[in-house]
Amino acid sequence: MQKPCLLSWFLFFFLPQLSFSCQPDQRQSLLEFKNCLTQSIKNQSTTKINLAGLKKWKQNSDCCKWKLVRCNAHSPSREVIELNLSSLVVSGSVSSSVLRPILRIISLEALDVSSNFIQGEIPGDGFVNLTRLISLDMSDNAFNGSIPPSLFQPQNLSVLALSRNNFTGKIPDTIGETSVIVLTLSENNLSGSVPKSISKNSRLMLLDLSKNRLSGEFPRFNLNSNLQLLDISFNEFSGDVPASFGSYTRFLKMDHNNFSGEFPQDFTTCPLKHLDLQDNKISGKFPSFISRLFPALEVFIMRNNSLEGSIPEDISNLTGLKILDLSENNLDGPIPSSLGNLRAMSQSPIYVYYDFYTGPGFSVEMGEYLHIPDFVVNWKNSKQGIAHRNSHLYTILDLSKNSFFGEIPPSLGNLIRLKVLNLSHNNISGLIPQSFGDLEELEVLDLSYNNLSGHIPQTFSKLGELTTLGLSHNKLSGIIPKGPQLDRLNDPNIYAGNNNICGEQIQVSCFTQAEQPEEDKEENVEEDEEETMFSWKAAVIGYPCGFLIAVLFMYLF
Ligand SMILES: *[C@@H]1O[C@H](CO)[C@@H](O)[C@H](O)[C@H]1NC(C)=O
Ligand SMILES: *[C@@H]1O[C@H](CO)[C@@H](O)[C@H](O)[C@H]1NC(C)=O
Ligand SMILES: *[C@@H]1O[C@H](CO)[C@@H](O)[C@H](O)[C@H]1NC(C)=O
Ligand SMILES: *[C@@H]1O[C@H](CO)[C@@H](O)[C@H](O)[C@H]1NC(C)=O
Ligand SMILES: *[C@@H]1O[C@H](CO)[C@@H](O)[C@H](O)[C@H]1NC(C)=O
Ligand SMILES: *[C@@H]1O[C@H](CO)[C@@H](O)[C@H](O)[C@H]1NC(C)=O
Ligand SMILES: *[C@@H]1O[C@H](CO)[C@@H](O)[C@H](O)[C@H]1NC(C)=O
Ligand SMILES: *[C@@H]1O[C@H](CO)[C@@H](O)[C@H](O)[C@H]1NC(C)=O
Ligand SMILES: *[C@@H]1O[C@H](CO)[C@@H](O)[C@H](O)[C@H]1NC(C)=O
Ligand SMILES: *[C@@H]1O[C@H](CO)[C@@H](O)[C@H](O)[C@H]1NC(C)=O
Ligand SMILES: *[C@@H]1O[C@H](CO)[C@@H](O)[C@H](O)[C@H]1NC(C)=O
Ligand SMILES: *[C@@H]1O[C@H](CO)[C@@H](O)[C@H](O)[C@H]1NC(C)=O
Repeated sequence: MQKPCLLSWFLFFFLPQLSFSCQPDQRQSLLEFKNCLTQSIKNQSTTKINLAGLKKWKQNSDCCKWKLVRCNAHSPSREVIELNLSSLVVSGSVSSSVLRPILRIISLEALDVSSNFIQGEIPGDGFVNLTRLISLDMSDNAFNGSIPPSLFQPQNLSVLALSRNNFTGKIPDTIGETSVIVLTLSENNLSGSVPKSISKNSRLMLLDLSKNRLSGEFPRFNLNSNLQLLDISFNEFSGDVPASFGSYTRFLKMDHNNFSGEFPQDFTTCPLKHLDLQDNKISGKFPSFISRLFPALEVFIMRNNSLEGSIPEDISNLTGLKILDLSENNLDGPIPSSLGNLRAMSQSPIYVYYDFYTGPGFSVEMGEYLHIPDFVVNWKNSKQGIAHRNSHLYTILDLSKNSFFGEIPPSLGNLIRLKVLNLSHNNISGLIPQSFGDLEELEVLDLSYNNLSGHIPQTFSKLGELTTLGLSHNKLSGIIPKGPQLDRLNDPNIYAGNNNICGEQIQVSCFTQAEQPEEDKEENVEEDEEETMFSWKAAVIGYPCGFLIAVLFMYLF
């Protein structure tokens, strides 16, 4: 019994190495690549490469055991099927010709050459022989010239990542023949229109064409598409806002384009979470149907368009909405009090991890490419990008630069998760609600350039996180309440252009203040005594206790 057993152990351990070692021609190609790469340091002194991963790449060894290389374990021919050559070049530049030897390894299914400072054009017929490719990542290099049409053609290609290069010219028509599930072409210099044929691909789940110079109308997608994330922001697309992407769409970033016309009504109802259309030319009435179409909406950004009309009361049906940015439009009417019912702005945040629907052909590795894009909001007086992974930390209501009128509904004080509330540059009148003191997480409050009157509510002293405040250019009067944060907000510009605001923060004494805040007037109308008392009270707030007691003594005796 023992001998056969030993024999099988022998076969198990040694046979694979003896007979199933990597193919000599493939090993030769890999060594040639290594050689080209090391040569390019000699060509250019500024070029630095990290050879740690290539150390064991030597003649007379089995290339299937080399780092960064993976061979087919299921076939006796031991073909190289995966090469991860990402980030080998650390600085400088290398010519795209270093890739030539690799293009001979026709068994490749996955090739990653991202982040390598590779410069120059992809050789015209470069990838034609790599027909078995499933995943190709060439992003973060300096490839230029046109995208070769053959790049889209491998029958089983699922991931094609070409972002952050210098590709010019048009997107090839062969994009219609591709089977890709994930396609990223962002941050290149692509121009012209997107071939209509793209809508034939119903496998596409993620399409990122952002930051190019693409123009024309965006092709209608088909309704059977699996598209979940579309980013076409920062281009020059025009015409109607594209709609009808199928029923799986979750993220639509179409901001910074030239889309015009009304907000489309023919969207398919879908689990959309994130819709960004800022910096376009969308006109017509506020889309009142939005809560019906996208009941799961969390981020809705329409800044800098030409929307008119008022916000419908049933906007509060959007229970997940936590970022609403409608600034710089022509909206009017009163601010609906139902906004105070927006659940995600008033209850504890729930961190939601987005699981993409994973259809046929989807592999775990593809998940890496499903980067949900950042978005830009107004934050502390400047535009700031927010990474999607942090978006659960932000709760924002921005209605600035419109023509809203009427009073601020006190119900907004329910939105206790708000970090930013910007109602500036409208025509809002009446008092600032006392309930604003409940917005204890608020960091930014901008009510400037309105018609607000009365005094700053005493409850503001509770705003412990407030670091940016704008109350200028209203008709406010009276004393600025004291509080740990309010005392720090001592820039006179915060309060400029009002009727009569006084307070230690801006070094305007309240002694000479003839007027008193309206609410106190309402509360203390009974006696003239009280009024005298108030002016004393106002005068001594913030002074040391000893002084207060002295004053009280003087008053009483
Ligand atoms: C290095 O320079 C030589 C001659 O200038 C050129 O033929 C070769 O393609 C260059 N190699 C790389 C990898 O840039
Ligand atoms: C290649 O390796 C890098 C780490 O060096 C990793 O981040 C990347 O995901 C790998 N690429 C693929 C396609 O697995
Ligand atoms: C592709 O294969 C053909 C036939 O073997 C060969 O003639 C051609 O040079 C190859 N192309 C590349 C870019 O390797
Ligand atoms: C595509 O994938 C199928 C199924 O895995 C396989 O049978 C076929 O050979 C692949 N085609 C190519 C060109 O590799
Ligand atoms: C892209 O090409 C332009 C013009 O040829 C050049 O100025 C720029 O440096 C290139 N960018 C990169 C990242 O290579
Ligand atoms: C691509 O870049 C190379 C090297 O920087 C340059 O010589 C070539 O002219 C560029 N090609 C195009 C089409 O811009
Ligand atoms: C972008 O492409 C245009 C030609 O289409 C060219 O004039 C321009 O220099 C390119 N810009 C960059 C940064 O490569
Ligand atoms: C934007 O679209 C309008 C028509 O709606 C057109 O007149 C204008 O030229 C376009 N602007 C750009 C920069 O494409
Ligand atoms: C508003 O959008 C237009 C393009 O539609 C852009 O030109 C303009 O700079 C944007 N305004 C602001 C303040 O961002
Ligand atoms: C909003 O919710 C209310 C009550 O749940 C419902 O009656 C109304 O039809 C909803 N509106 C929309 C547009 O879905
Ligand atoms: C409020 O909105 C206005 C107009 O959109 C903007 O200029 C201002 O910077 C914003 N305020 C803050 C504090 O971000
Ligand atoms: C602002 O509202 C007042 C009434 O409260 C009205 O008289 C005034 O015309 C409005 N201003 C603008 C610019 O709409």
